[in-house]
Amino acid sequence: MNNPIDFESVLSLIDRTISPIYLNPTQEIVLREVWNGKTYAKMADDYNYDPEYIKTVGCNLWHTLSCAFDEQINKSNFVPCMRRKIKDVIIDQKNKSTDDRSQLLSTNLTDQQSYHWTTAPDTKHFIGRGQEIKLLESWSQDLDCRCIVVSGMVGCGKTSLVTKFAKDVKNQFDYVIWFSLDNPPSIKTLIHNYLKLISQHPNHGIDSESLDLSLLISQLIDYLKQKKILLVLDNLQSIFEVHQTSIYYKKELEDYGQFFRAIISTNHKSLLICTSRLKPKLLEYYATNQIKILGLQGFAKQTTKKFIESKISSASDRQKLLHLSESLQNNPQLLKIAYDNLDIVSGDNIEQVVQELSLLETITSLLEQELSCLSNLDKEITCWLAISDSPVSSAELSNYLEQSHPRIKFLHSINSLIERSLISQSDGTYSLMPIMKSYLRRRLVKQALQSRSYN
Ligand SMILES: Nc1ncnc2c1ncn2[C@@H]1O[C@H](COP(=O)(O)OP(=O)(O)OP(=O)(O)O)[C@@H](O)[C@H]1O
Ligand SMILES: [Mg+2]
Repeated sequence: MNNPIDFESVLSLIDRTISPIYLNPTQEIVLREVWNGKTYAKMADDYNYDPEYIKTVGCNLWHTLSCAFDEQINKSNFVPCMRRKIKDVIIDQKNKSTDDRSQLLSTNLTDQQSYHWTTAPDTKHFIGRGQEIKLLESWSQDLDCRCIVVSGMVGCGKTSLVTKFAKDVKNQFDYVIWFSLDNPPSIKTLIHNYLKLISQHPNHGIDSESLDLSLLISQLIDYLKQKKILLVLDNLQSIFEVHQTSIYYKKELEDYGQFFRAIISTNHKSLLICTSRLKPKLLEYYATNQIKILGLQGFAKQTTKKFIESKISSASDRQKLLHLSESLQNNPQLLKIAYDNLDIVSGDNIEQVVQELSLLETITSLLEQELSCLSNLDKEITCWLAISDSPVSSAELSNYLEQSHPRIKFLHSINSLIERSLISQSDGTYSLMPIMKSYLRRRLVKQALQSRSYN
């Protein structure tokens, strides 16, 4: 039977009434499914539970509700009883004549309750990226699209772009939840945190590791179906590692696969948007049309100009940095570091300035982070390009490689390096990003000297 009252309103009423205790995920499932008219046996079957266990959960639940509402509530009278209670609340509120029905029944969240920006960066000074934002908006309106990943080189502006986008479109969503995976929690903890925020349950003291992952996922998916939720996950690369030529989940975080599979392959009306230094091609295995990947490059020329103008007042200093920007692939993070070290950015010899910059610790650590995102084949190609004085053709490059790789892997690697802005292509030849070239050359010489001194 079609229930005219939204189950979320029932949950909200129960939450308020039983507070300070709260429903655990299994109890919530039992209530939801009783509301939908399911038997205990069907529930046990659907959620892979022992039927006896579900019965016990139900029994305890009716006892809790009966005490809280001060009236006998059980499986057979739960639905009519809740309908009556919700109607009572409506009438009560109407009598107070201020609030309307929708205000009453929906959890009607305040801005603060619906939007969780956690450690999202401030985007007050965000500039440019008009095309990318338009593309993200069009993907987000595509009903088939359930997951977007913005990937690209370290510091190219992924987090800023995705955060700006999320802030721009937040009104189109019931909830926006922004989390960083910098120190990735287990997938159970992550989902448990989502459920706490969405359901407004504090759930203090519950050990998320003791909960059943499939159950947590199915609860989350339920919410993603009922509400329009924008989940933002920053730094997705933290859950992956690169082996040879492919990307895998880290061993201890393999469970994330189930989460992504469910979000990407299940029908719902929400959206997951992630940033990642690594391009997570493996997510496309779950469904190709439901996931979109945007390979983000540095700023457009005009944006670099604007960026520099917003930071530097002296016309000659602006000119210096602008001159250098191409060698830094218009990467905002690199531009920022160069701007902080303007004293080094002197002289007209760009090559020399790039060399000076590549000695800075801030730059070397960034370049090292970038190298750690590369597959072995990517690294090998990068090293050959670093030691070559002139641009190299693809035939030459593949001859240099230590072992022969299938051509498709080689091309894939070249394309991925181009997409990361690490190498550029001109007239069928390839060159390495100047600052990486300068850094890698020094690093290779250092390694060679070290290995000699040990022999
Ligand atoms: N569109 C933009 N407008 C203004 N500043 C920007 C923009 N994009 C990036 N920046 C600035 O550049 C720096 C790097 O940007 P951001 O942190 O977004 O890069 P990222 O690609 O997420 O880096 P990482 O790979 O380290 O996560 C930040 O200081 C940010 O404020
Ligand atoms: Mg980032």
